[in-house]
Amino acid sequence: MKRKTINLTVDDKPIEAEEGTTILLAARQYGIHIPTICYLEGLSPYGGCRICVVEIGGGNGKNSLDTSCTRQVQEGMIVQTQSPRVVRARKMIAELLVASAPNVKVAQDIAARMGLMKVRFPMDDNRCILCGLCIRMCYEQMDGKALGFAGRGTGRWVTMPFQKRPESCRLCRGCEYVCPGTIVPCQGIKVPGELCGRCRPVEEYRCCPNSTFGCFCEENPL
Ligand code: SF4
Ligand code: SF4
Ligand code: FES
Repeated sequence: MKRKTINLTVDDKPIEAEEGTTILLAARQYGIHIPTICYLEGLSPYGGCRICVVEIGGGNGKNSLDTSCTRQVQEGMIVQTQSPRVVRARKMIAELLVASAPNVKVAQDIAARMGLMKVRFPMDDNRCILCGLCIRMCYEQMDGKALGFAGRGTGRWVTMPFQKRPESCRLCRGCEYVCPGTIVPCQGIKVPGELCGRCRPVEEYRCCPNSTFGCFCEENPL
């Protein structure tokens, strides 16, 4: 059955999208870039990182911010992907992300693209940015049902039931594949002009302390 066509405006351009499409995907179809972190094609949208925020109005002057990866298009919607309000919100999100996980490359990349020059918050050293991609990959694509969030707020983390690898985990490493935190952070050079020499295949570093995911041994599943 053919779906209804929705007419909306994104960054002052009139566009068409099928009913049920998200703003993110509708914009992408027209080459309009919206940054994402926790969205991945093939996995259900989660709306956790909020970096894909856009400003939405219906012409009534009451605009609001919402995540474009979860919000569906509506007839007559007016969307701004780069308004001053959106840019301010994204910069704040990027700053908090870098403060929480400064060695995660995705966080640094997003911050650089936002033009962030400094971070005003105390730095932490998390390798997990709580994007939830690993959990959705495990449930939705690998049928592992082995991962989930535990804790709340700043104490939130990804773990396995009772911190033990369950039998349902088939060691497929799909979780590791999608995790933006598993890239080995650059340790920096010791002497100016020297190469740090750590840009070697990730395979060499697959041990417990160096990645978000552990070595998948029984003692350190994550
Ligand atoms: S390795 Fe285990 S935890 Fe990771 S996606 Fe596969 S089944 Fe899930
Ligand atoms: S472990 Fe990796 S994929 Fe999972 S929530 Fe953390 S950063 Fe995201
Ligand atoms: S990509 Fe939309 S909330 Fe993360």
